[in-house]
This record gives sequence, C-alpha cells and structure tokens, in this order.
Amino acid sequence: MRAGRAFDGYHLRDVPPPDPELTRVGPGTPCGEYLRRFWQPVAFVRELGETPLRARILGEDLVVFRDRGGRTGVLHLHCAHRGTSLEYGIPLERGLRCCYHGWVFDVDGRCLETPGEPAGSRLCERVWQGAYPTHELAGLVFAYMGPPERRPPFPHYDSYEVPGHTLMPAAKFTLPCNWLQVKDNSMDPVHTAFLHALSSGYQFTAAFGVVPELDWVLTDAGMVYIATRRIGDLVWVRVCDFMPPNVHQFTREIEEATAAKPASRPLIIRWAVPNDDTHTTNFELAQVDPAWGFTAEQVAQPGFGQSEDRPYAERQRFPADFDAQSSQRPIAVHALEHLASTDRGVIMLRRIVRDGIQAVARGDDPFGVRVDGTIPTFTQDVVVEIPPAASAEEDKKLLRATGRSVVKGVEER
Ligand code: FES
Ligand SMILES: [Fe+2]
Repeated sequence: MRAGRAFDGYHLRDVPPPDPELTRVGPGTPCGEYLRRFWQPVAFVRELGETPLRARILGEDLVVFRDRGGRTGVLHLHCAHRGTSLEYGIPLERGLRCCYHGWVFDVDGRCLETPGEPAGSRLCERVWQGAYPTHELAGLVFAYMGPPERRPPFPHYDSYEVPGHTLMPAAKFTLPCNWLQVKDNSMDPVHTAFLHALSSGYQFTAAFGVVPELDWVLTDAGMVYIATRRIGDLVWVRVCDFMPPNVHQFTREIEEATAAKPASRPLIIRWAVPNDDTHTTNFELAQVDPAWGFTAEQVAQPGFGQSEDRPYAERQRFPADFDAQSSQRPIAVHALEHLASTDRGVIMLRRIVRDGIQAVARGDDPFGVRVDGTIPTFTQDVVVEIPPAASAEEDKKLLRATGRSVVKGVEER
C-alpha cells in the first residue's frame, strides 16, 4: 500500500475487501468448512424450555430443542414438508412436531409421522429433516455440523476439571462483527494494559495498567500468551490459552499482584461462534469456586464491557472489549492494518487458522481436531517474588524467562 503523508486522507480512503479465506463462514466457504470440523456450541440447556430455540450458526438457520424424553436435537429450521419454521414446533416425548401439518421429526432428522397422509402411507420413510449430532458439557449444547464421516471425538481439555471448582454454564453474548477479530483479541494481551486500564480507566485492577513483557508459545492445545509484569519486587505472570479454531480461556481479572501466590487456575472458557460473517456469539463456561457464593444467574452475566449492555455515551467514554472489537468494521480489513511487535500473537493465531483452513481444503484433518486423551492447557495467574535486575534491559529478559518458566513443559514442545 502507498505510504501516507500529511493531510492525505484522499489517498487513504479506499477500503479493500476483507480476507475471504479467513472470514467467510457460510456453507462451502474455506473457513466455514474448517470451523465445521469442530464441535461448536449452539445453545445453553437453560435456553431450552417448552418451546424450541431458533439459532443461526455458521450462516445456517437452525432450531435447538429438548424433546420431552430429555433428548436434545439440532435441526434445520425449515420443515422438510413445506418450510414452516420449526421454532413454532411442539416438543414431543420423541422428537419435534411441526405446527403447520403436524409432521414429526426425531433428533436425528428421521420423519416419524405425517399425520395428514392416508393410513399406510410410507412417505415418512423417504423424508429426512436436516439434523446435526449434539454433545452436552456443563449445560452447554454443542453440535457437529461438518461431514458425518469426519466427526471427531469431543475434545477434553484439562481445564474442564479444576480441583475445588465446578464447571458452570456462564455468559452468552453477541457482537455485530466477524468471528476472527473477536478471537484476535484473545492473543492480544497488551490491550489489557491500554483498553482495560490506561486508556479508559481501571476496569479490572491497577496491576493491569503495567505494560507487560509479552511472549507467545505454541502448545499441544494451540498457543498461549504470557504477559509478565514487574510490580516492585514481585513478578506477575498471566497466561491465557487459545485452542483452535475459536476457543480461548482466561483467569478472572481480579489479580492485584500485591503478594506472592501460587498459580491459580479458575478460568473462563469461551467459544466465539460465528452466527454469520458479521455476527458472533460468545458462549462461556466458568470454573466457579462454590465458596464465592455466586448464583447461576450471576455466573451467567457477561463480564464488564463484554456485551452491548451499556449506554452509548458511557461506552464512548469508557470503551471496553465490545466496543474495541466490534468497531474494527463489521469484518476487519487486514490489508489496512499496520501490525506491530505486540501483534505477534495475532499473527500466530491467524497462521494457525489459515493452516487449518488449508489442511481442510486439501482433505486433511486440521490441527486441534483429533487429539487423544486429556489436552493440557496453561491458563493461570502466578505471582513470584523476584527483585528487579540491575538494568531495565536485564529485567526485561528476567521477566520473559520467568514467564516462560511457569508454562511448564512448553520449552520442550
Ligand atoms: S410445513 Fe411442516 S408439516 Fe407442513
Ligand atoms: Fe479485553
């Protein structure tokens, strides 16, 4: 791109299209087919009551429901008979009945009844409603929307079990923008110092206002960022994981870093699920210590500034994640960016995603889709007492080495 100069808006106004390979999610698109190779959250169990839930996932209109037998189904929204939306359907002991002419579909899409047809009609045997297999984890319903013969096992991260904590359904909130910029944010720890502290007031703790030394490392699960801050004689190391294609996890933003303490791993696990190219719903599970005394409703609240729940005037003065991410345009345009040293994590994340997309296009399994056993992750806060080194430059090296040392085993990977 041509370099700008003073008062050169005229030459800098063109907006090229977004990267189609990384940002289009509909059926048949390279990224859409990549994301479909992984189990994706579609709804919380708490949303499935007496009526079905309409959902838009990866550009497909779906209905999620619980039949009265307690089984969960994810079906294409429009009835295979003449297209009426199954959001108006009636959950039965087995399956879902369309409101219009009473046809019934089982959770696997099988047609069970066509009650208006003559006795002995075998029409049912030829009709299938589009259906996707489901899996439930801690009150979150996942669907697998990829080719049936490539369905992977449900992945098991070590963060699903944290001693003394209970994995609970947490927040769900939607951003009016593309999924990738929502995920870029997860490997961009320097924003926690600026957006969440220095530019718009302390949103978490004062310690976040210290600009961290940054490192990023590939892991078996994906990658981590390591943000290491010098606070007097203390060193605070904060580690967060990104697990491809669209999962990340982080600790609660409550670290004050006022005393040394062992690694703490209470965390949020967050999936950024594209509804379509320009809308993304975050689904969260939370590891909750019962001693905190939170109700299920409290755990389900989005964190500060994560959703569009504040008035515009307030968001303008005290912008937070929702505002920063969704205002990068409906789909962020990579060709206009000026990536900096602090964006190394974003570059690595996009590389993992692009490699995965290209693997799927070649007919291979993308990284992260087929993993056996429990997958180790590293999200944690740890504060250690280490006096500053003699010079600022030496101290930076010390911070980076300290950061790497807490991500156990990563050096050998
Ligand atoms: S449109 Fe669904 S039963 Fe007729
Ligand atoms: Fe943030």
